[in-house]
Amino acid sequence: MAKVAIVTGGGQGIGEGIVRQLAQDGFTVAVADLNEENAQKVATDIGNNSKGYFVDVADKQSVFDLVKHVVSDLGELNVMVNNAGIAKIGQITETSEDDLSKILDVNIKGAFYGIQAAADQMKKQGKGGKIISASSIAGHEGFELLGAYSATKFAVRGLTQVAAKELAKDKITVNAYCPGIVLTPMWDQIDKEMAKIYNVPIGQSLQKNIESIALGRGEEPADVANLVSFLADSKSDYITGQSIIVDGGINFA
Ligand SMILES: NC(=O)c1ccc[n+]([C@@H]2O[C@H](COP(=O)([O-])OP(=O)(O)OC[C@H]3O[C@@H](n4cnc5c(N)ncnc54)[C@H](O)[C@@H]3O)[C@@H](O)[C@H]2O)c1
Repeated sequence: MAKVAIVTGGGQGIGEGIVRQLAQDGFTVAVADLNEENAQKVATDIGNNSKGYFVDVADKQSVFDLVKHVVSDLGELNVMVNNAGIAKIGQITETSEDDLSKILDVNIKGAFYGIQAAADQMKKQGKGGKIISASSIAGHEGFELLGAYSATKFAVRGLTQVAAKELAKDKITVNAYCPGIVLTPMWDQIDKEMAKIYNVPIGQSLQKNIESIALGRGEEPADVANLVSFLADSKSDYITGQSIIVDGGINFA
């Protein structure tokens, strides 16, 4: 039987890239997103018995329900990818309480609940598993205008380390991927907001950031998906607690 993977935020962008790669790798993929219509479209498009699901990762019950439904529909859970995330742009001094709460809820609590729900299920199954979450290069170094976002992505690295230590005895590995400047709707939104704040034309902030990449091109979702494919595979069985950068050469720490 095919292994089962859940990808949150799988309806577009990096998540969609991960879904397509894991399907190619032979997984039956549960495509889960706040935008259920996009999730269904991606699942239908890849076939492979994949199914689309609604999830709001900021809501603990919704994440636990997702795991329950996926296991009942598709079988035992082998891989959980906590990919869903949002960005908020603005100086720390200008960040509203609402924006801060929203991003902490989705990016930190979302990853936390994803780890909890997957670990519960994988422990019951007793065969180990792989939990993989989205951090960022902004989780290795703070970036101007991304104060709240950077804080959440540093938090994902912390969570990844602790969960790796706590779940190792259950043969569950826990890792994170840290993309750079990925050409997705999220960066379109970041670029537009930066254009307003810096009073520059749309496209200029993205271009400037792309010029800082050693390999000289913007990152594609497939570049991230290749790393996730490895982290979801038995080839990475001896790697746990790591937050691995995949950025074409921006951060050399
Ligand atoms: N784009 C980049 O350059 C970049 C860089 C580093 C890290 N990341 C991280 O990678 C992940 C994916 O980013 P992306 O660029 O594909 O973003 P995106 O905005 O293009 O897509 C995010 C997806 O997550 C879904 N989503 C948002 N909130 C959700 C919620 N509460 N519950 C369930 N689904 C929800 C959205 O509907 C959307 O389909 C995020 O965690 C992001 O922080 C992105």
